[in-house]
Amino acid sequence: SPQVFKEVVAMRAFSREQRREGKTIGFVPTMGYLHEGHMSLVQAARQECDVVVASIYINPTQFSKNEDFGVYPRSEAEDLRKLAEAGCAAVFMPASLYHQSGSSSGGRADGSMVVGAAEAHDPDAHETWVSVDHLSQGLCAKSRPHFFKGVCTVVTKLFHIVEPDAAFFGRKDYQQWRVIERMVRDLDMAVRVVGMPIQREADGLAMSSRNAMLSAEDRQRSVCISRALTEAREHAVAQAADAATLQQQVAAAIAAGGGRVDYVEVVDARSLQPLQELRGRQVLIAVAAFFGKVRLIDNVDFEAP
Ligand code: PAJ
Repeated sequence: SPQVFKEVVAMRAFSREQRREGKTIGFVPTMGYLHEGHMSLVQAARQECDVVVASIYINPTQFSKNEDFGVYPRSEAEDLRKLAEAGCAAVFMPASLYHQSGSSSGGRADGSMVVGAAEAHDPDAHETWVSVDHLSQGLCAKSRPHFFKGVCTVVTKLFHIVEPDAAFFGRKDYQQWRVIERMVRDLDMAVRVVGMPIQREADGLAMSSRNAMLSAEDRQRSVCISRALTEAREHAVAQAADAATLQQQVAAAIAAGGGRVDYVEVVDARSLQPLQELRGRQVLIAVAAFFGKVRLIDNVDFEAP
């Protein structure tokens, strides 16, 4: 089974030892509650690299105060079992990456750990942020304005700790993948970013740790997202539908299916900028919708005829 590291120094020592031995490291950052989507990333990392390191850390800085940080599902033992079976060599599971030691650098007087979504944004806890200007606007940023800043900052920290050769991300979180790719390019990080296909349940729902938080009724209803996206792609490819029509059809289908649409957008798959004319373009249709309190995201991409 994998070696579990809770401390930054121990994790980094492991990675450096592997690299000294000439091994390449593939890294899969996660927030745990692992499913086959996560495991497909581990498999890809195993195929492309000598050693696989995964991380499990529910990053408080990518949640806003009214989001689900406190109730995000956890299954540590089960996660470790799955990672062992998949041939993962090491798992980084820090208690907090925004920990204050109460040292000279200005920690809290009581030396307490800083773990909450609100506390981690406290300048006592953390003052340095990584953000990507344009790609992290629009889509998910409209309803989660600080999300990508939190993601980029924690992924930068994780890259500095694990020092991987390659890192694997799912295209379910399409904008996240593209933002991280751009961050790595702009900041000359020595990591190859790999984007992997969306893994789905048998009925088409994109796998997500948050699916476990759906009621039985909402789980049934949520299939309307992937159905709407598949139909829209077929419509676009077979009948050259325009962006506005596709957008309206997907939004209407999700609303009719019992979801509350956060956004449906038809964008250029590279720039993530809204498209009007699709012809010949690489198109992404991206969706976020609430079922009950649970926010789900999904997307399809295709080349328009
Ligand atoms: P988490 O939601 O746990 O996802 C970890 C990785 O698994 C991400 O790259 C995500 O895109 C991928 N993933 C999730 N569901 C998938 C699916 N159905 N098919 C393929 N890949 C899937 O994304 C995060 O955590 C965090 O933001 C993180 C990058 C760890 C930073 O905190």
